[in-house]
Order: sequence, then C-alpha cells, then structure tokens
Amino acid sequence: MAKQIKTIGVLTSGGDAPGMNAAIRAVTRKAISNGVKVKGIKKGYQGLLNEEIVDMGAHDVSDTIQRGGTILGTARCSEFRTVEGQKKGAEICKKHGIDGIIVIGGDGSYRGAQALSRQGINTIGLPGTIDLDIACTEYTIGFDTAVNTAMQAIDKVRDTSSSHERCSIIEVMGRNAGFIALWCGIANGAEDILLPEKYDYNEQVIINNIIRNRKTGKKHHIIINAEGIGHSTSMARRIEAATGIETRATILGYMQRGGSPTCKDRVYASIMGSYAADILCEGKSNRVVAYRDGKFVDFDIEEALAMEKGIPDYTYQVAKALSI
Ligand code: ADP
Ligand code: F6P
Repeated sequence: MAKQIKTIGVLTSGGDAPGMNAAIRAVTRKAISNGVKVKGIKKGYQGLLNEEIVDMGAHDVSDTIQRGGTILGTARCSEFRTVEGQKKGAEICKKHGIDGIIVIGGDGSYRGAQALSRQGINTIGLPGTIDLDIACTEYTIGFDTAVNTAMQAIDKVRDTSSSHERCSIIEVMGRNAGFIALWCGIANGAEDILLPEKYDYNEQVIINNIIRNRKTGKKHHIIINAEGIGHSTSMARRIEAATGIETRATILGYMQRGGSPTCKDRVYASIMGSYAADILCEGKSNRVVAYRDGKFVDFDIEEALAMEKGIPDYTYQVAKALSI
C-alpha cells in the first residue's frame, strides 16, 4: 500500500533556471489544496544536510511567479553524492516529518532524488535547467526564457557587427548540449552554428564561409558557438588572422540564466509543479515529470536517466539550409 503523505518538501538543485519559482509556487499551492503540508528546503541538498528547512504557506509564494532565480536558493553538494550523505538526508527528512520531496533540477539532481528514494523518502523530479539536456522531456523549465534572452542579446551584437563589417563569435550556454546554440542559430539567422554534437573542429570550413559571404556583400558574419565547444576568444584571433576581417568574441554567460520567466516557462512550470505535487501526494515515488508529444507525463527515474537525446536532424538541416 502507498505510504500516506502528510508533509512534503520542495528544493531546487544545480544551476538555477527562470521558472523555478513558478514551479515552487505551484508545488506549494497544489499540495496545500490537496490537504498536505509543505516545507521549503533551502540551497538544494546542501541545505537539506544543514537542516535549512522552513514552513511554506500559500502566501509565502505570493509575488514570485514573475521572478527569475529561485526563492529557495540552490547549490551543488558533493556530500550528497556519498551514501552517508544520502542516509543523513533521509534521517533529516524523517526528523522534520517530511514524507516526500520534489526536486527541481537537472539529471544530477535526479540522481540525488533516486538515492533519497532508496533511503525510503518518496521523491519526484521536475526538469529545471536552461540547457534542455534532459532526455525524457521535450521541455525543461527555463530553456524558453534563456533562448529568448540570448536571442535578444545576439540581435544587439549583430547591429554593431554589421555597422563595423565585423565577424562575431557569440558563445551561448548549454553545458555539453547544443540546444540553446541551435535555437539561437535559427532565431538569429546565424551564418554558422557550432554544436558539440555536430562540430568536427574544421575551422577552415568556417574561414571559407566567411570569405565567400564577404564576397557576396554580407556585412556581418555571426557564428553561434556552444559552450561545450568553447574557446571563442582564441577562435576569434585565428579567424581574424586567416581572413583579415576584424573578429570579436562575446561570451553571453550567466545573463542567460537570469530574468523574468517567459509566459511559456511560467505556465509549463506551473502545470509541471502541480502535476508533481499531485503524484507525490498520491504516494508515487522515484518518478520524474516530463513533457512529451504534447502531454505532461511521468517516468521512472531509472528509465528517464537511461534515455538518450540528440539534436533533431531536420531542425539541424533547416538551420544549415537557411544560413546561406
Ligand atoms: P544538475 O541537477 O543541473 O544536473 P548537478 O549535476 O551539479 O546539476 O547536480 C546537482 C546536485 O545533485 C549535485 O551537486 C549533487 O548534490 C546531486 N547529485 C549529482 N549527482 C549525484 C549522484 N550521482 N548521487 C547523488 N547526488 C547527486
Ligand atoms: O546547467 C545550466 C548551466 O548554466 C550550464 O549551461 C553551464 O554549463 C553551467 O550551468 C554553469 O554552472 P555553474 O553555475 O556551476 O558555473
């Protein structure tokens, strides 16, 4: 028989992402409306181990849906990777009467949730990362805001790049995944898009492209480079030396993780947060919430972590075809 759930905890873990607050708000209010108490755990698994735990009422999440970052704070915690750390975390949950936890984060955070469920604490994961690099889901909380922020920044770089007839390398985040780079590459009409999943490190191809485009009268050449490839500054120096065209590197960095979430991130995070609260209150455990084929669904964490995700082939072909 499923364990009766009276109190749940919610935490955010790993890199923050816009929309995490909408998810925390939804988890809190949906659980309360299901008759279940909610505790907020600050600073991810580190805060759990430090017992930074507060009661969360419906009004504690007022005025948060529009805010970037995470009101609970987040952290990376090496102690939680050890079985001792995980046992300690489960003991602290029991001490505070927490029957289950909703973990909002990426793949790493899911592994922590899986470990906690092995220690007898029910867990549900929610995909919170700007990188879109969680295989089981077509949507992650924060990606939409991050690509919109990056897109607007790249438009601005393009203006000055065209005025000076320069080449620009713009590096976007994504850890080892190229989804942000791919989306910005299409949305910003970039001439070259370098994705860790596809790039063959043949710089001569890019150099030839730049020279050919300049001959056809193009005033700028925008290269979107994914963080997983990196080295944008040295790449700019080499390209300038080979082409004779002034080349500048811009690394967008952490601005992509901040800011007010888009409508999509607010709405999807609200639905996913509510879904997570519902299944946790029903007594489900070791599951992650996902968005697939137009529906919100849940998977076993083990199954979700075993899935693989690549760059969609047709989308990549479109990006290449439109960049001429
Ligand atoms: P993300 O969740 O964004 O992928 P990380 O990979 O940094 O970010 O993971 C966030 C946190 O999750 C880590 O700091 C650690 O506390 C916990 N974690 C990651 N991997 C494991 C693991 N294998 N076992 C237990 N906890 C883990
Ligand atoms: O996972 C989100 C992300 O912003 C990645 O794109 C990036 O590689 C990483 O986090 C940076 O992490 P940190 O905040 O530890 O520098």
